[in-house]
Amino acid sequence: MLTFLNSNQYVIDIQPTAHSRINEVDFNQLTFGKIFTDHMFECDYENGVWTNPTIKPYGPLTIYPGTKVLHYGQAVFEGMKAFKDADGSIFLFRPEENFKRINQSSERLAIPHFPKDLFFEAIEKLLHLDQGWVHQGQGHAMYIRPFVFASETGVSAAAATAYKFMVIMSPVTAYYSEKLKVLIAEKYSRAADGGVGYAKAAGNYAAQFYPTNLARAKGFHQVIWTDAQNHEFLEEAGTMNVFFRIQDTLITAPTSDRILDGVTRKSIIDLAHAQGIDVSIRKFSVTELIAAHQSGDVKEIFGSGTAATVSAISGFSYQENFYNIEDQDDSYAHLFKELLQDIQYNRSDDEFGWRHQVL
Ligand code: COI
Repeated sequence: MLTFLNSNQYVIDIQPTAHSRINEVDFNQLTFGKIFTDHMFECDYENGVWTNPTIKPYGPLTIYPGTKVLHYGQAVFEGMKAFKDADGSIFLFRPEENFKRINQSSERLAIPHFPKDLFFEAIEKLLHLDQGWVHQGQGHAMYIRPFVFASETGVSAAAATAYKFMVIMSPVTAYYSEKLKVLIAEKYSRAADGGVGYAKAAGNYAAQFYPTNLARAKGFHQVIWTDAQNHEFLEEAGTMNVFFRIQDTLITAPTSDRILDGVTRKSIIDLAHAQGIDVSIRKFSVTELIAAHQSGDVKEIFGSGTAATVSAISGFSYQENFYNIEDQDDSYAHLFKELLQDIQYNRSDDEFGWRHQVL
């Protein structure tokens, strides 16, 4: 047994696998988030403390049917990525932001905070053990999924007293392989004022599946979510934040209790400022979007997120009308994706201090 002591005196019990599965993986044929690396991290919350931090072979969990998360959805997660550069060094992208956000999400779901040292050491240790799974090359990344769920058994509808915090990792390439056609939401909503929209709560995603399936049946990839009250303002695109390029100004909705404070979103805003591109963080209505389209001012729409990075939108539908968006030679979506990836793959200076070297 190997152990790993961090500054808070947590000892991670490390149980390396005897049989790596890496040779079974075709890294050129990856489906996003389907294959997981050899190891996973697990830590329990019991009697008011986080305990038993363990790294062990990736495998099934045994839980009772009465486990609270199965009944009340008390669970939150994060999405983060690690990249390997041309020399084989491995970097996380802005992991501090994910750490802060998982605890903000946890707080909203009445889940206890997780300690920072242990969060970082769990992920870094996993990346050390599974470093061969972080594939080199453009488009390749390790998608890291920390999550916490209520592991107490019992169906009384109250916050659990026991939780499990885990980290699993999946080698990935692009989330979307093509430009997206989206449907603007006129009936269903993703989030409401005072709700959990800003948190990465598992249930936020479950609630999107049904309306997204309806949109898919009509030939769309995703839904652009609008405000729950009047379906008037454009808020998010599927599981991504959304940007509108109107002439040469970039517009995105302000974060709120309905909108996720995306790490890629805020990185794009900083990159845009550094490029001298005007950014307007404000409410943007469907009416304004349609008017701008009619006057030829909608140059681009794109989504941003950890999984998707930057995903261009080829057109949107509203009230049964489809509005096409022409390709741009000087595409901002393309520019931001390149600038981000240059930082992530250690191909450019890290002027913002976003790279976190692990190995
Ligand atoms: C991410 O971008 O990390 C997300 O959370 C999207 C995920 C639902 C695939």
